[in-house]
Amino acid sequence: MSSSPPASATSTGKSNIEMEGMSNSLPASGTSTGKRLEGKVAIITGGASGMGAYTAKLFVCHGAKVIVADVQDDLGASLCNDIASENISYVHCDVSSETDVRNLVDIAISKYGKLDIMYSNAGIGGQFNVASIIDAKR
Ligand SMILES: NC(=O)c1ccc[n+]([C@@H]2O[C@H](COP(=O)([O-])OP(=O)(O)OC[C@H]3O[C@@H](n4cnc5c(N)ncnc54)[C@H](O)[C@@H]3O)[C@@H](O)[C@H]2O)c1
Repeated sequence: MSSSPPASATSTGKSNIEMEGMSNSLPASGTSTGKRLEGKVAIITGGASGMGAYTAKLFVCHGAKVIVADVQDDLGASLCNDIASENISYVHCDVSSETDVRNLVDIAISKYGKLDIMYSNAGIGGQFNVASIIDAKR
């Protein structure tokens, strides 16, 4: 992985993912270190920014079909535009809503016929007196 920062969405709300930031680690297909997720279908919650966005970029580079799920719709759309691959798409999903999560998984199954990877990354940083994101108040 490149030593450069993930160029992810920042607190300014701007997505500035740069594919070239990963150029040193782009997988070379056909080698033992090539595309390690070819044909895999992945959902990444909280994927519109930060580590989730970086992971989405990495997964696409490795050949995965990625559905980014988040509540920041503009940022999610911007990320997909920046990555500019048919293998990434965005779905609005609040992970504290069972209905949203069910809809998200249904979309993955109907679009790709399977789901291989569920990266439950969505979360809120900082100190909170809540046991889980489900209990977090907006
Ligand atoms: N960055 C760190 O040092 C660190 C340390 C420990 C744990 N974590 C955890 O790792 C995960 C990613 O961290 P990050 O630094 O990339 O954070 P981030 O704030 O950049 O990204 C978190 C994403 O989760 C999304 N999100 C928040 N609530 C959501 C919800 N209810 N439904 C769907 N999406 C939701 C946000 O919109 C955001 O895009 C978080 O769960 C965070 O708590 C991060």
